[in-house]
Amino acid sequence: MRVAIIVILLFFCKAAELRKASPRSGRSRAPHGRAAGGRSGSNPVKRYAPGLPCEVYTYLHEKYLDCQERKLVYVLPGWPQDLLHMLLARNKIRILKNSMFSKFKKLKSLDLQQNEISKIENEAFFGLNKLTTLLLQHNQIKVLTEEVFLYTPLLSYLRLYDNPWSCTCQMETLVSMLQIPRNRNLGNYAKCESPPELKNKKLRQIKSEQLCSEEEKERVDPKPQVSGRPPVIKPEADSTLCYNYVFPIQTLDCKRKELKKVPNNIPPDIVKLDLSYNKIKLLRPKEFEDVHELKKLNLSSNGLEFIDPGPLR
Ligand SMILES: *[C@@H]1O[C@H](CO)[C@@H](O)[C@H](O)[C@H]1NC(C)=O
Repeated sequence: MRVAIIVILLFFCKAAELRKASPRSGRSRAPHGRAAGGRSGSNPVKRYAPGLPCEVYTYLHEKYLDCQERKLVYVLPGWPQDLLHMLLARNKIRILKNSMFSKFKKLKSLDLQQNEISKIENEAFFGLNKLTTLLLQHNQIKVLTEEVFLYTPLLSYLRLYDNPWSCTCQMETLVSMLQIPRNRNLGNYAKCESPPELKNKKLRQIKSEQLCSEEEKERVDPKPQVSGRPPVIKPEADSTLCYNYVFPIQTLDCKRKELKKVPNNIPPDIVKLDLSYNKIKLLRPKEFEDVHELKKLNLSSNGLEFIDPGPLR
């Protein structure tokens, strides 16, 4: 009887051991789930070792590239072009070059957090017109202008915190973009690192006067007759300098773009057009003929001298 009990107890111990071991052996025997991407079977420690290939997988019908913590300094050739999500966190990327992501036209989210980015060229996000989410927190970015986001009209979620923001006049366009009420998920929590008097101020709460003293404004945006320097040559009328918002209504914001004429390449579906603070001195006939949907037009602070009766008909 006693022997029988001991045998039974031994049997249960063995069974428990087997059960403990089974999940791991079960997984290696029957890889499934995210198998399409080859995610399964990879050892969680090895996965982060540099030099390993990145992983491509499909989850809920959306294609991901997971290339986190691979000591990457640039995008690699051969990544599939139909990616929707690109995870590049914790790499060694220092500069975002013009058109760096332009092959990935379907991209909806781009995670670049915890890299060493200190420079973003103006056309770095060229071609990303589906991008809604961009994560740039924990980098080394000091200055950025709104111009960088010209190519990402659907961007609705942008993380910028934990970067050493230098809150000078150069940042004025970005700061005003973040403060537009509908951009409520752009740049939250980002704070100035310098100058000392603005340290720890949130970008979303800084006033333009705090960034730009009058004399600084002139340095950034020189008025030739005052400074005596040769005028900066800018295109006279190019709407690609303007910011195009899609939500809540199609808006083209061309405020302070030094425009001398109404741009002739305004997208035809624009409903609201802000041309304030430019140098448009006259309106020619048929000026807004192609902008069929235009409902609201702001021409304040241009010093308009002549309006042909034609354009507003
Ligand atoms: C036109 O633009 C100026 C300067 O940006 C602004 O102060 C004004 O309120 C705008 N007017 C309208 C009607 O939106």
